[in-house]
Amino acid sequence: MELNTKVMGHRGAALLAPENTLASIRAAVSAGATWVEIDVYLIAEGGLVIFHDDQLDRCTNGSGVTREARPTDIAALDAGSHFSADFAGEKVPTLLEALECIQSLGLGLNLEIKHDTADVDTIVPAVMAMLRDHWQDNNKLMISSFNLAALQLCYDIGDQRHLAPLYEFVPEDWAEQLASIKAYSLNCDYLNLTQDQAQAIKAAGYKLLCYTANDPDAVAEYWAWGMDAVITDDPTRFAFLSNQQ
Ligand code: G3P
Ligand code: MG
Repeated sequence: MELNTKVMGHRGAALLAPENTLASIRAAVSAGATWVEIDVYLIAEGGLVIFHDDQLDRCTNGSGVTREARPTDIAALDAGSHFSADFAGEKVPTLLEALECIQSLGLGLNLEIKHDTADVDTIVPAVMAMLRDHWQDNNKLMISSFNLAALQLCYDIGDQRHLAPLYEFVPEDWAEQLASIKAYSLNCDYLNLTQDQAQAIKAAGYKLLCYTANDPDAVAEYWAWGMDAVITDDPTRFAFLSNQQ
């Protein structure tokens, strides 16, 4: 895969529309993004939804533990009003709804696997099966996670997906971790990344993505360090890069 973008919308485009909704994915397109990052979360009854938080409260009109909510409970929630009245009635998408939306728009997808540690064995096979059945183009798909065990299970399942460990702080043994899953990319918090780390990651042959950059000036020097793409809540702020792609 050749990553054909420098800008990925974060949670769709979280500053432009309610995060991790279909409206947010469409907003990312309107903002010029050709890839989006979204979070997939395991709920009760084996359901897979696009959601970030352990609790329902911040992003919906519901409350309680996300993991314990049933698909019918989630489907009844309003995930738009917390952002603005313009998005009242916006739903928490299922993974399937998001995959269909993203492909219909011709976007690339960075799918971040969220989970409780104990759920890796449940969420990863379910996500991989969903992708096998409902995602067409492997060259437009990256799977990321803060949990290396989740990515190791993706790797062991053997569908040869493009895997991307996520780090808040790049660990000492990042090279061993990436090699163990034949990773495609290292995705990290730009705030804690050093130039030496960036250059070593690039020298080892990996893509380097940085989150969550909403100020182009804050990451301006990172391009020279080898950063391949930013993950941003507002792709319009990086529109000046589009003629460089
Ligand atoms: O993929 C980058 C970013 O989404 C990771 O952090 O917490 O926003 O999912 P978070
Ligand atoms: Mg995420």
